[in-house]
Amino acid sequence: MTNNQLTQVFRARDYISKRIKTNPEIGIILGSGLGAFADELKNPVKIPYATIPGFRKSEVKGHSNELYIGNVSGKTVAIMKGRYHYYEGYSLFDVTFPTRVLHSLGVNKVIVTNAAGSLKLKISPGNILLIKDHINLSARNPLIGLSPDFGEKFIDLTDAYSNKLRKIAERTAKEEKIPLKSGVYVFLTGPSYETVSEIKMLAKLGGDVVGMSTVPEVITANQLGMEVLGISSVTNYGTGLTKSKVNHKEVIDVNKRTAIDFIRLLKAVIKNI
Ligand code: HPA
Repeated sequence: MTNNQLTQVFRARDYISKRIKTNPEIGIILGSGLGAFADELKNPVKIPYATIPGFRKSEVKGHSNELYIGNVSGKTVAIMKGRYHYYEGYSLFDVTFPTRVLHSLGVNKVIVTNAAGSLKLKISPGNILLIKDHINLSARNPLIGLSPDFGEKFIDLTDAYSNKLRKIAERTAKEEKIPLKSGVYVFLTGPSYETVSEIKMLAKLGGDVVGMSTVPEVITANQLGMEVLGISSVTNYGTGLTKSKVNHKEVIDVNKRTAIDFIRLLKAVIKNI
């Protein structure tokens, strides 16, 4: 069964390779409501997830389920316009499969984006936040049960979010005059949002934002030796921080507003890395 996992990755890689002229060097995974960035590509090759062997698709609103490969800021990039999540019932092998496929296509840097809730009043909806580290509170790990063909599983995560790429992102944000926070992302499986007590606990544990994605892909990318940049679009305050309640529509709407700066930042960062 496990041998199969590597074969599955190669099958997807071959399917995609046949449809593109230049292999991508940077991978970008777009979170809820951030899909507009994919439209920045000039004449991209668009491949629906449904056609790629081994890919699944997200049923969540705000995810369009297409892989875009093309050029932006002088680099060939592969963009996942939408991702699927553990909370949709997929295994973590499924969730991290596209990351493995991107790597097999030659991608060595990956930018992982997401929508996240804030755990601190000083981080507000509309802010863009550079992820400096994560806390995996899901009790899940994408390397559990993985085929030995994929290599070492006891991997070091000291530089999980590349210090080098973070410095470039910070410098780029300054140049572009885009305010950029920095913080620790806590991963919970969801799909329910957190209780008031959970939000208090997560802040005490050292988290700055919370979300339901990203960490599986980041662990996988680190196993594969890829450099990772993680960026959150903060869409709401965690429950209990203010009187308002959290809902998915708000998450998407706030992201649409943040998207202009987010896209500008991503384009400039891609040019600089
Ligand atoms: N909690 C968890 N995930 C999220 C949130 C939140 O408040 N907002 C966007 N994704």
